[in-house]
Amino acid sequence: MARDKVVLAYSGGLDTSVAVKWIDETYGMDVVAYTCDLGQGQDIEAIRQKALKTGAIDAVAEDARNLFVDYFVFPSLAAGALYEGKYPLATALGRPLIAQLMVRVARDHGAVAVAHGCTGKGNDQVRFDVTFQTLAPDLKIIAPVREWRWTRTQELEFAAKHGIPVEATKKSIFSTDQNLWGRSIEAGVLEDPWVEPPPETFQWTADPQSTPNEPEEVEIGFHRGRPVSLGGRELDGAELIIALNEIAGRHGVGRIDHVENRLVGIKSREIYEAPAAVVLHEAHRELEFLTLSKESLRFKTLVSQAYADLIYNGLWFSQLHQDLMAFTVSNQQYVTGTARIKLYRGHAQVVGRKSEHSLYRHELATYEEGDQYDSSAAMGFIKIHGLGQTTQARHQLLKGPGGRPPELPSIIPPSSQ
Ligand code: ARG
Repeated sequence: MARDKVVLAYSGGLDTSVAVKWIDETYGMDVVAYTCDLGQGQDIEAIRQKALKTGAIDAVAEDARNLFVDYFVFPSLAAGALYEGKYPLATALGRPLIAQLMVRVARDHGAVAVAHGCTGKGNDQVRFDVTFQTLAPDLKIIAPVREWRWTRTQELEFAAKHGIPVEATKKSIFSTDQNLWGRSIEAGVLEDPWVEPPPETFQWTADPQSTPNEPEEVEIGFHRGRPVSLGGRELDGAELIIALNEIAGRHGVGRIDHVENRLVGIKSREIYEAPAAVVLHEAHRELEFLTLSKESLRFKTLVSQAYADLIYNGLWFSQLHQDLMAFTVSNQQYVTGTARIKLYRGHAQVVGRKSEHSLYRHELATYEEGDQYDSSAAMGFIKIHGLGQTTQARHQLLKGPGGRPPELPSIIPPSSQ
């Protein structure tokens, strides 16, 4: 009888390599390994070969970088999604795409299950499982690392017994994940939130103390809220992000130190390196200041936070997402133009912005020739604007509740009592 198949998210690391054998032994299923390139800077063909050598009956590797940028990263940027105002959500954005692509492979291969190497303590298991349960409720979900609950020694013993090659290099002192939108680093000494991340934490960003002595300026062009050019050159999204990671990283820009609230109730200290994401969020926001009305800007902060939370919490494939995205697309119609950012010693400072749809009007703002602002209208406006407060002062605040002026401390300065 033919054996059932399972599609496993395969990274090429020890956990998922051991998982290939473990699934075979524990569930009696054939493993189809799945690997995709989200710009993590690995040779996915080599990983595919490794999967086959490790015992997978088939292995699929594909480049999903532009899918990732066009349908996940740039929409989140346009929405202004930063989890807890800090984390640009690289890993969180990658999971629903990987899961979605795995479901497609599962259908192509007639698989009955999907599997991932997440532990039972993190957010990623939630993002994978919820996406699978949403898109393909019939598929069984296997999570070997969450299920076997081994110590590292037990895992190494299993690997040795089954001839699974363990990299000679000793295990990284940190736990990391990366794609083109950012890199995350946790565990080891970083588990003490008082400890400054040691130099070896960082791979994408230079130490701001040893960055170039001269600042460097970048110009980022946007069309309806999406980045389209860097330094005047039109680039596709993945190229633009990869180039900007290099430039901004060289100036030490993009380090984030965050004690974050995981979905599973744990506070966790995470370090991120996200040079392009930091610069692009800054540039995008600045263009919004130029092109969105005050009311739109204020309302959008609510959408940004809701959007960031739903991404972080693994609820990408939801109606709420579609609703928030409909708002964002409408809200971004005029966010077209260019922001100029100066990179220097770990900082990304906006120094200029322009847009054909700018609401900054020189003829209204200027104190020089050509002023079209009607100052005479200001007095009437101020009277009406302050009417509620001046009325309250006359009838309440200056008298006090018992007919006597209030005692100090008071919001009314003593001299006016
Ligand atoms: N804390 C971040 C998040 O929840 C990063 C997770 C990184 N994942 C990992 N398996 N190392 O999105």
